[in-house]
Amino acid sequence: MNISNTQSLQKVLSAWNKKDLKTALVPTMGGLHAGHLSLIKIAKKYSDRVIVSIFVNPAQFALNEDFSTYPRVLDNDLILLKKEKVDLVFTPEVNDIYPDEIKKNINIGELDRILCSKTRPHFFTGVLQAVTRLFEIISPNYAIFGQKDYQQLKIIEKYSNNVKIISAPIIREKDNLAMSTRNLYLTHKERQIAPKLYQIIYKLSEGKIDKNQAIQLLEKYFRIDYLEILDADNLKKISYNSGRIIILVAVFLGKNRLIDNIILGDEKCLLLLKKLKLT
Ligand code: PAF
Repeated sequence: MNISNTQSLQKVLSAWNKKDLKTALVPTMGGLHAGHLSLIKIAKKYSDRVIVSIFVNPAQFALNEDFSTYPRVLDNDLILLKKEKVDLVFTPEVNDIYPDEIKKNINIGELDRILCSKTRPHFFTGVLQAVTRLFEIISPNYAIFGQKDYQQLKIIEKYSNNVKIISAPIIREKDNLAMSTRNLYLTHKERQIAPKLYQIIYKLSEGKIDKNQAIQLLEKYFRIDYLEILDADNLKKISYNSGRIIILVAVFLGKNRLIDNIILGDEKCLLLLKKLKLT
């Protein structure tokens, strides 16, 4: 069932509510791929009813970014969602998500001064406005977000109020490139190069190379935006108390910007902490 009208949506939601059915929301901008479908599978495990929203959110694009060309393939998305037996697809209009105005200044704090925020300062303010409005309209019990957009995940976790946020593992192509709707923009040559990103951070995660060597290798193929090794729980510098560690990377390849990350398992985490003399 595809609903774009918030009043019709409320009717369905209140009927589900009366039956005490648990709901899970998978927010998307469409252009769905296997990564999105994996979020839906996880949503099903947590809930009785799964809602997928499709909204290309203007507030998370800067003027020089790809808002006008972002893949809008609703018919194809709806076919995929039908196959997945999603209970409800919500396709709101800009007025539903921004009934008042798009706010330019929301103070997210520390988490919005690092990593992607440095090159895309508008981005998380935009994401947060759309996501919190979707939460307000739908009031889901759960919402599922991919670990690929790790900084987004951490920011949403902080502002989720009553919605329980579930994080989902990164889904990769056969050659380990992390799936993304924007991978469609890569030229044939760029697509051949792109998997190097994961290969290099994987070597780093295995302790086979150090951060400087990883930077040197990345520079052979990409223009680096950042490569950081941080505490996975709060995205701060690693400390004695860090339980989990994450390697996060963003690079430019031609006109494209690729991001990826790896969370280190316990053993590797210890190894790295030892190397950094933090244990
Ligand atoms: O990750 C995305 O696709 C978007 O940032 C989201 C969460 C749907 C908000 O527009």
